[in-house]
Order: sequence, then C-alpha cells, then structure tokens
Amino acid sequence: MFGLKKHLLICLLLLVNCAFAQVRTDSNRQRLLMDFGWRFAFGHPSDTEKDFNNGTSYFSYLAKAGYGDGAADPNFDDRAWRKLDLPHDWAVEQGFSSQASFSHGFKAIGRNFPDKSVGWYRKSFDIPLSDLGRKLSVEFDGVFRDAMVWVNGHYVGTEPSGYNSFQYDITDYLNYGGNNVIAVRVDATMEEGWFYEGAGIYRHVWLSKTNPLHVAPNGTFVTSELSSNTAKITARANIINEDKAAKAFSLVQTIVDANGKTVASKRKDNLKLSPFETQEIEMELPVANAKLWDIECPNLYKLVTTVLANNKEEDQYETAFGIRTIRFDAKEGFFLNGKHVKLKGTNNHQDHAGVGTAMPDELQYWRIRKLKEMGSNAYRCSHHPPTPELLEACDRLGMLVIDENRLMGTSEQRLEDLKRMIIRDRNHPSIISWSIGNEEWAIENSVTGARIASTMQTYAKSLDTTRAINAGISGGFKSGISDVIEVMGYNYMGNGDIEAHHNQFPDQPAMGTEEGSTFATRGVYVTDPQKHYIAAYDKKPRPSFYSIEEGWTFYANRPWLAGMFIWTGFDYRGEATPHTWPSVTSYFGMMDLCGFPKDNVYYLKSWWSDQPTLHLLPHWNWQGQEGKEIDVWAYSNCDEVELFLNRKSLGRQQMKPNSHLEWKVKYAPGTLEAVGYKNGKKALSEVVKTTGEAAAVKLDAHKTSLQADGEDITVITVSVADKQKLKVPTAGNEITFQLSGPGKIIGVGNGDPTSLEKEKFVEEIQTVGIVDLKEKPLQEMHEGLDAISETDASTWKKAFENRDYKNLAPAYLYSGNFELPEDFSGAEITFFYKSIGKEQSIYINGIEIGENLKESVDGNAFKLDQAMLKPGRNRIDIVATPIPKKHEWDNVNTSPGTVQIVTPAAPWKRKLFNGLAQIIIQATKEAGEITLTATAKDLKPAVLKLKSSATATRPSVD
Ligand code: GAL
Repeated sequence: MFGLKKHLLICLLLLVNCAFAQVRTDSNRQRLLMDFGWRFAFGHPSDTEKDFNNGTSYFSYLAKAGYGDGAADPNFDDRAWRKLDLPHDWAVEQGFSSQASFSHGFKAIGRNFPDKSVGWYRKSFDIPLSDLGRKLSVEFDGVFRDAMVWVNGHYVGTEPSGYNSFQYDITDYLNYGGNNVIAVRVDATMEEGWFYEGAGIYRHVWLSKTNPLHVAPNGTFVTSELSSNTAKITARANIINEDKAAKAFSLVQTIVDANGKTVASKRKDNLKLSPFETQEIEMELPVANAKLWDIECPNLYKLVTTVLANNKEEDQYETAFGIRTIRFDAKEGFFLNGKHVKLKGTNNHQDHAGVGTAMPDELQYWRIRKLKEMGSNAYRCSHHPPTPELLEACDRLGMLVIDENRLMGTSEQRLEDLKRMIIRDRNHPSIISWSIGNEEWAIENSVTGARIASTMQTYAKSLDTTRAINAGISGGFKSGISDVIEVMGYNYMGNGDIEAHHNQFPDQPAMGTEEGSTFATRGVYVTDPQKHYIAAYDKKPRPSFYSIEEGWTFYANRPWLAGMFIWTGFDYRGEATPHTWPSVTSYFGMMDLCGFPKDNVYYLKSWWSDQPTLHLLPHWNWQGQEGKEIDVWAYSNCDEVELFLNRKSLGRQQMKPNSHLEWKVKYAPGTLEAVGYKNGKKALSEVVKTTGEAAAVKLDAHKTSLQADGEDITVITVSVADKQKLKVPTAGNEITFQLSGPGKIIGVGNGDPTSLEKEKFVEEIQTVGIVDLKEKPLQEMHEGLDAISETDASTWKKAFENRDYKNLAPAYLYSGNFELPEDFSGAEITFFYKSIGKEQSIYINGIEIGENLKESVDGNAFKLDQAMLKPGRNRIDIVATPIPKKHEWDNVNTSPGTVQIVTPAAPWKRKLFNGLAQIIIQATKEAGEITLTATAKDLKPAVLKLKSSATATRPSVD
C-alpha cells in the first residue's frame, strides 16, 4: 500500500506533454485572450447620473441600432476610470459590513450597497482591415451577473446568469482597420447562490476569429467505446456556413496523441451547406492501443477538425479529449475503464483568499493539486457550471467531476442553461455526471419535482448519452426527484435513511453528493464561542450531521454507494454557519480559504490516499496549561501508533481502518512524538515540538520560477519561526510586504473566518464631475481673462441650454465647480478635459492650466498641483470659441470632463492566523527578478527572490 506506484511517476512525466496548446494562431482561426487593458468604474442600479446616463437619450439603445449612450457610447470619455486586467472580482476588493449579506461573506456589495453593486467595464481595441470578411465573436467565460454588452454602441445582448459562458457574433458591428469599443454593464445586486459569488467579469474574455465556413462554437463532440484495447472514437462536428453563398466542402478528422503523433484520420467529401445552415457530421475513427484517461494517468488526445473548401483549409479546430469508460452500478458503485473506483470527493465553490472568484488559471491547478494530495479523486462543482479552466485542470491532473446546473426548471430558458453547460463541457473526460440540481426544497418531494427532473434528465440525455444524470437530494429520500433520477445523490446521512431508501430502490445507483458540513477553524484546538473559533477535532457538528470519520466509514463500508463528496474541500466566503457576523467565511472546509490544511486533511489522506501518513494534533504550545489534560489525536494509515511525550511512551494503540487514535496527555512542554508501525516495523514518525517566541519571518513559494506571461502566479506561505527555526503555530504577527521587479501582489489572506482585514490593497479612484456649469457670451476670447476674476457666476445662464447654433457668440466664458474631499493630501489629482470649444483656455481657482488649446478628439489631461486646490468647492473657468453644428442633429460635447482623485494603495499587509498567512504574486509580461520582502515588528525580515522568465504569451487583444 505504501509503495508509490511506478506508473504514477511515468504518468507525471507524460502529463507535461498532455498540456496541449488550446489556442491556435494561424490565419483561419484565432482565439485571442481579451483580458488585458480594460477600464472599470462603478455605475448604479437606479441613479441614472451615477450610471453614466446610460439609456437616457431620446432614442435609446433599445429603440435604434447603434444608439448606445452614456458609458455604452463608444465616444464616452473613460480616461478617469481605473485600468485593470481580467479576471476581476470587485466584491473581494470591498470592505465588510454587518449590513451586507451573510451569504456573500458580508462583503459590502448587494442591495444595501447600490454604489458598489453595478460595475462598468470598457475596452478599446483595434481590428485590422485584413479581418474584413471573417466572423468575429466575443466570448465570455462567465460574468457575475446580469451582463449587458455593447459593441461600438450596438446593444448585442444581456446574459442574466452569473455562471453561463456566452458569446456574441460582433462581425457586422466592427470598424475594420480602426478602433472599436466594447462596454459591459454588470449588475451584482441580486444573488444567485447562498454562498459568495464575487462580482464582475471574473472569468476570461476571448475574441474569436474564423472564416464564414467554420466549426460552430463548442461544435464538436467526441465519444469513445472500448473493446479490448482498441477504441472506437465517434467524432461529431457541427459545421456552420455563415457565408452569403452555399459552400461545398470536405471534412477531415484527425486524432493526435499526447506526443503529437497522428493515430487516426478520416475524410468526408462532397458536403454542402446553404447560407446559415448547420450540419452535424459524424465519423468513426479507430484508435489502436489506446492510452486511457484515468485518475493516475490522465492521458489526453486531441481531435483536429479541418474544414476544406476547394482543398484549401477554411477552419481548423482542436478538441482535447480522453478515452475512457464510466459506469455507475447500483450494486457495486462506480467504474472507470472497467475498474472499480470509490469516489472520494469534495464539493467546492470557486473562491479563494485574496482573489475571490477571479482566480488565475494556475490557482485552479494549485487547488486541484491540493485536493489530490489529500487523496481526493472527485470534485463536485457546487452549485453551478464552473470556469472552463477548472475543468481543464481536472482533465490534465486526473480529477473526476460532477458538473452541476444552477437552477432547476424546464422553461426554455432553464433548459437552455442546461444545454449550454452540456454542450460547452461534454468533451472533458473528467466529467462523469451531470447534476441537474441541488436541494431544490420546493419541489424535491413533489410530483412537480419528479416531472421537472424527468424532463431535464431526458433533455440532458438528448445532448449526451454517455454521462449519468444525478441530483443532490436532502429533503428526505422519499418520492419526487429521487423517484426518477438516474443516480441518486444523497445530501447527508442525517436527512433520511439511506439504507432504507436503497432497499426500496435497489436498482438505482447512488452516491453521497454531500456529507460532512463539519465545523473547524484551522489551528484551533479549544472552541471559543466568543471568538467564533471552533476546535479542529473532527466531532459530530450538529444532531443531524456527522463527523467526517462517521460519514466516510458509512460510505466506505457500502460498496453499492459509489462514494461521497465532502462539504467542502476548501472554506469559502459566506455561510459562516454556525456563526454569523463578524464571521465572514465558512467553517466547513477540509482546508481553509487559503488552502492551508485543517487536521481533517490528514484523516482523509490516511484513508483516501496510498501515501504513508502520520499526523498528530494539536500543536504543543500550551504555556500555562502545564499538568492539564490535552486531547492528542493521531491520523494515520499505519497499523499501530505509539505516542511519546519527552521520550516517555504513552502507549501503543492499534488503528482500526477509517478511524483515528486518541490519547489524553498531561501537558508538559517539550516534544510529542508519534511512531507508526507497519507489519510490526517502525515505518513513520511525526514530531510536534513546543516552540519559543517568534524570531524571524519565513516565506515559502509553491514555485520560485514564473512565466512572464502576465498570468502566471506563485502562492506564498508566510510564517514565523523561533530561534531554533521551528515554525510558531500560534503566531499572530502582522506582516508587511514589499515587492519589486516585474510582478504584482494580487491578494492576501490567512484563513481566519473572522478576519475583517483587507484582502486587496489597490489604489482608490474617485471621480468628480464638473457641476453647475454656467456660461456668458463674449465678444472675443481675450475678454474672458477679465471675467474669470468675477466671483459670482450664479446669475449667468446654464451652459449650452437652448443654444441657438445659428447665432453663436464669438466666444463664451464657462464657469463651474467641482468638489474635492476634505483630505486629499497624498492623492494624485488629474483633470481629464474634453474640448467644449474649437479653441480654449482653462483656469482652476483662477490659475491658468491650459492656454489656447485647439479642439482635441482625444481630450487633454492635466495633473493638478495640490497647491492650487482646496477641500470642498473648487472653481473652474473655461474661455472658448464655440464648436458649431453642421446639422441640427449633430452631437456637440457639452461636458468639460472629470476630475480624478487617485489615492495610492497602502502597503500590503496581513496578520498571521495561527502561524500562517498567504500572499499571491502574479508575473507581469516582463521577464526579470521579483523580490518580495516581508517585515514584522521585532522580527528578522524575510526576502524571497523569484525568477520570471520570458515566454510566449497567449495571443491577446491589446
Ligand atoms: C447544503 C447545501 C450546501 C451548503 C451546506 C451547508 O444543504 O447544499 O450548499 O449550504 O448545506 O451545510
């Protein structure tokens, strides 16, 4: 059991090759990352002015094509907005408030915080003239939520779901050989889940370019059947002709193995499509000596679909897939490639310390690896379709997946959501089951529920016959959804009699889709209700819930149960049950929000993995508790464990399968040692020592080499050690971070469920408009110079009101105000001016900042000296010759612009929580050395050097 399987190692080597490039850059199909160089500002759900006057023009964007106004207008001046790259979660950047939602971790967004609930994103991008005649689509992996999208002022659509991927064909709206603007309004006022969901464009955005005859979006579907070691691959491709004329074409399907070798290829000729016709073309290809995809060795193949017209390549599309079989059996559980596999799963939300839902791809891999290290082999995407990159990580690392639909229902829109999930995800070999829903209490036990489930199940099967359909059921395992569902998903042993249900339905395969929901705070061993800390001994949490050990023992002992999914692998924001404010994260995780293991991880590692495991809890720093009894537990897969305190044996005990060992130990400082025996021989030992005071800060990176691609990250563990270099498990020092070189810190955390510390230190941007703009006609520009000394402009006419463009004055003096905050010391203040005249001079509080400026389409920017400004009201005067109108309907700019106040970010810092904190660093696109320095009062600082190497970046829209 202890030997590391040799083939595992070989597989790990092979895995390097499995990482197929997902992005093609040849001329026929391009998929460009559109994450970089966006502008962001908060809008408002109901205050039109704060929402940049979007939708206020006489003809709105719903009235006429191309009438996107306000921030949706391509000419809108967004220079004062914040610059950022995606993925972005604005919720995680906010502070906490007891008035905010428990479900969303008390982050100050949502209904009670309208100023922080709508976000606008804008991006300018060039499209070359050579793209004319191609099909271009913008693809969003997911936006939370209610995303409205405009391209060059054309309203292209709304996606209400925070979890669906969606795309729009924008071919006809683009300026070829010129500049284009995409604007996205995101409204996160409403919650979809009862857990933290983030806010904003928190997944990738892509720009796809194809020829008019091309593989439809998510248009391929690869399935396989195995007989001995030859696989029969069925490759389906949906081809669409978006040309104006009918097209004749041929289709070539080629299968390439992980080493790039072609292993099968077939061609079909004489195919034809009328304009806007789509056809699914099916071909069978045999793959001899198929290398199967499994958990230890996740072999991937690639289907290359080539569309040829007149023997010229029109499109080439790649689909990563795996060859494997899956089967749920009502008596024997789950089978992968004909071999029995017990599902050792966790449920997870997509949420991580410091970054929230906006997880860089590498963090997805990091988290899946952490789960695998615990011995887990399955992941339930509770309770919505995940980011595609999570599924890629599961494919490449070998993790089985239940992909879950968000909201149950059978209206067209609900079925469309289900369809989009299945069509997008059905080539991932990691996915073993589609979950149509979770704990739908209103319908679980009713005829309506049975009807809805049955329709959804049939519909899902019409899109994919190869996966089992399940639902998570908790409202008693009686009648309703459970009657009709193919694979029963039990949510919690305490919610009903699982055995009785199985006896009644012996032919229904089943698994525990949720079990656990136990409470533990990492590094805490004495429950403190006042502080909201819960001891990390695995105890039965509530009368109707069971410990992880009780849950696993139940599932491990019943072969007909395919396995169980713990609630949850990682803590997440929100659902701080059994506590509430000021607790802001859950207590359920086997790991905390940073992915630091709670002790349960070692229980699972003992019984879920092949790794020799021996772990002791608690820590051994109990100063002041001398002589008092402390519960010492050992988690191990050894046959026996002997415990020693300061070399004195406290007894050797036999380990029962799926259990743990306990001792009551009178505390004395020193060394607690456990020795594990296998077949009577000493196999492992584990030492826990009493430590001294913290003396030095420590930094440990999960990797010290980064790719300079603007995306790669390293996850750094921050701790402190005593003079003997022992890490201090109880430390709570505040650590301050400083970074230099081509990298940036993107988040900090420490896993403390009650921490209300900042997780992001980003510069704060306030924008202030010019208000109360009045005008006075002048005979000439020069005359204005005298008038600006006039203190009172209140009797003047409102600027631009009822202006008679046929009888313009030679010049105008405009006077308005802007309000600055009481304290703006330390802030950088910039005035982004947009011409309101053909020629103009600008004065702030009587001081000239621009003289005789010609009208500028791009506008002018002025950094304002603090000395010319004052708290509260400031005056702005502009002397300008008017911009005439050629036609009555011409739009002339009447807004002189925005004052931007940028308060620099405070230095990044975080307190340790029970000895640990985490900091995530992301590489920029420049290569070089990144230096992270961590300092704390009275401690020796730590310096960490990272190398960021030049690499090919993903093709992107800049
Ligand atoms: C379940 C639910 C999960 C989570 C969990 C907490 O009922 O499906 O989403 O809320 O309870 O115990």
